[in-house]
This record gives sequence, structure tokens and C-alpha cells, in this order.
Amino acid sequence: MDSIRIQGGAELRGAIPIAGAKNACLTLMPATLLSEEPLTLTNAPRLSDIRTMSALLESLGAEVSALQDGRVLALSSHAISSTRADYEIVRKMRASVLVLGPLLAREGHAEVSLPGGCAIGARPVDLHQMAMERLGAELELRDGYLHARASKGLRGAVIEFPIVSVGATENALMAATLARGTTVIRNAAREPEIVDLAHCLRRMGAQIEGEGSAEIVIEGVDRLSGATHPVVADRIELGTYMLAPAIAGGEVECLGGRLDLVSAFAEKLQEAGIDVEQTDKGIRVSRKNGRVRAVDVTTAPFPGFPTDLQAQMMALMCTAEGCSVLEERIFENRFMHAPELMRMGARIDVHGGTARVTGVERLRGAPVMATDLRASVSLILAGLAAEGETVVSRVYHLDRGYERVEEKLRACGATIERVNAG
Ligand code: UD1
Repeated sequence: MDSIRIQGGAELRGAIPIAGAKNACLTLMPATLLSEEPLTLTNAPRLSDIRTMSALLESLGAEVSALQDGRVLALSSHAISSTRADYEIVRKMRASVLVLGPLLAREGHAEVSLPGGCAIGARPVDLHQMAMERLGAELELRDGYLHARASKGLRGAVIEFPIVSVGATENALMAATLARGTTVIRNAAREPEIVDLAHCLRRMGAQIEGEGSAEIVIEGVDRLSGATHPVVADRIELGTYMLAPAIAGGEVECLGGRLDLVSAFAEKLQEAGIDVEQTDKGIRVSRKNGRVRAVDVTTAPFPGFPTDLQAQMMALMCTAEGCSVLEERIFENRFMHAPELMRMGARIDVHGGTARVTGVERLRGAPVMATDLRASVSLILAGLAAEGETVVSRVYHLDRGYERVEEKLRACGATIERVNAG
């Protein structure tokens, strides 16, 4: 199993290209199931989660080709040969549940394995289920699978979510494009990935209004066509690399980054004393003098501070001047990086969904273990700032969501390498 070895202390200078968003691509890919015609996604990220989604779609009869070194995905679902999303694939990646809506809309039935446990909390799929039921499907849980059926086809309805869910909004949006009549999604997620999905579906001929607001209205159509769509920039990768010079010192330009994708996060960085500036090419971030200031952070659905940047922000707060309180409001168990950061000398008290971080002058390198995707990159960020050597093991988590992290950081002067344990 590979690990990442970092020699901390080097200031970072240079430019880092930001890839297409993993979470957008993972919902754009299943949209292929809605149409018999080809869907081409450009600016796709090269990640193991994308390969997992490709395998899932192929198991359903779709054709998926990765072109231009994986930057372009050519998808075609001319004929769907299976409507069963198997446990063997779903258990690897929860986003697999995003085939439910498209399969139901196109084929009138679907069998999707329940994803099972997840490191960051229970993460049920009841809201996905509720949305499909509102659209007229009948769902039953049997043998660990959700069996969904809409024998008379889906029909438009009002879907009001009790809490904001990105995935359930995406499933509802995709299913509603082919439902008969009008669907209104209330308390919809407003994430840029939802907006990107709506743009792509519209290119395919869907009638959608209101994406990016809490109410999305969809007028169902009989069929969708093919399209070519560029995947939006990855705001979580962007935020992660914005933190690299913030924590290690120096100046980095994140190419392709847009402030509107990360405004709540960028405001917190500025509050902490980091310079953040939109340029023609992206976002330039620099830390010029002294330690950063402690700031408090509460995660929230977009446009709030993203839960997917909480672990990385905690790494920064570990060396801030003062005490910061980080509140995790989206997932129940998302502080597993805290004990690993403490192995590097961080001072963190976790009580339920709240972590109190007292900044120390310097972290010290240590062997640490990645527990999930965002936790693993927070340990790499901490390693950049730490004195001595940090070795992050179990980096397969990292490869799910960050392409060539060591190359991107090395190009800016970090001493970082991947060690292949054979
Ligand atoms: C997506 C992102 C993930 C991010 C999360 C929150 C993808 C592939 N993943 O995950 O990186 O951390 O949004 O921004 O896009 N919930 C329910 N019932 C459901 C569905 C969700 O109770 O049926 C709860 C979850 O447990 C969680 C909250 O709703 O507490 C938000 O989850 P949700 O927005 O659905 O996250 P995902 O779409 O799974």
C-alpha cells in the first residue's frame, strides 16, 4: 500500500492547476443513463472514484471511454442491459446511489444496493427514497437492496426535503427531467455541483429553472438528447491547495479557481490573515508574515463553509495564534483526523460535533494514518508545515479524490514523494 512522505518546512511558490470536480463528475456521469445518445464530459478529473463510477455504469450496459489521458469521458447508454447496482461496487463508493433516479426514469425500475457503513457517519439514503416515492415510485428494501419500481412511469410532484441533501437533490433532479408534468424541489441543495448538473441536463434538452436556489422547478420532457459538457472546477481541491501556502508559507496561484465557488471558505482564510485574490487565471493565495490568526468555523450546506474542507482547515488552525472552535454540522463523526494531528503535536479537544483547537508554534513530523479522503489530505497539509518527516499511510483514500497531489505540491517546492510499499 502506498504512503506519502513529506519533509516539512519548505515555503511554496508556483501555480497549481485545479481539476474538474470529482463530486460534479460523479453526478454528471449517471446522467448518461437518461438518454440513448452519447454524453461527453470534458475537464474530467483522473481519480479512482471516477473509475469506480465507470465500472458501475458499464455493469449497467453503458459504454465509457476515457480519452485524452482521462480528461475526456465519452459515455453512451444506447441500451441499458441491467438495472442492478451491485453491492460489490456500491460498497466502495456511496455516490453509486446516484444511478437510482436515472434508471427509474428511463427503465421504470432499479435495484440499488444500500451502501452500508461509512467512516464519517451513518449516511442513510432515506431522502433519496422519499424523493423517488414522491415521484410515484414504490420502493422496498429486500436482501440489502432498494427495489424501486414505477410501473406507470414517474410523474411530477412537489418534493420538500426536511434537510438539505446534495445527493438526494441530484437524484430527484435527474429523475424529474423525464417524469410526466412539473416537479418542484423545495429546500434543494444549492451546491455548484447541482448547478453544473442542471446546466448539463439543460444541454441534453431538460427544462429546469432555479438551480442554485432552494427551489428548483423541472418540466418533464419525453426524451433527452446527447450533449458535451465541461465539468466545473473542483472547489474542494481548490480550497485544499489554497490552504497549502497558508499553512506552509509562500504564494501559490490556483489555476482555474473561482472565488464564487469558495466564498465562505475564502472569507475565513482572509480573517485568519491570509491574502486571497482573484486573478485572470485563478486565485492567488499568499501568507507573508507571521502566524495565522485563529478563526471559528461552522460547516453548513452551500453557500456555507463546506464540510469537505473542515479537516484541512483544522490543519491550518493547529498552528494558528489562539484558540479556534470548529463545529461540524453535516456529518456526525468527522473528526477522525484530530487524533492523527495530535500525533504531530496539535492540541485538540473534541466533544461531539465540536473541536477546540489551541494553536501551537510548530507541528512535528510523525507517522500518521489516513482515515478518509479529506482527513488524508489534511495530514499532508499538516506535514508541509511540520518540523521533520511525516509519513501518511493508507493513501488509497487520497487517490479517490486528488489527482497527483504529490506532483502538484512538488512543483511548488514541497519536499514530498509517494513511497510504493509494493
Ligand atoms: C455529498 C458529497 C460529499 C459532501 C456532502 C456534503 C458527493 C459525491 N459527495 O455527499 O463529499 O461531504 O455532499 O456536502 O457529492 N442524509 C440523510 N438521508 C439521506 C441523505 C443524506 O439523512 O437520504 C444526511 C447525511 O447523513 C448528512 C446530510 O444529510 O448528514 C447531508 O448529506 P448529503 O448532502 O446527502 O451528502 P452526499 O450527497 O452523500
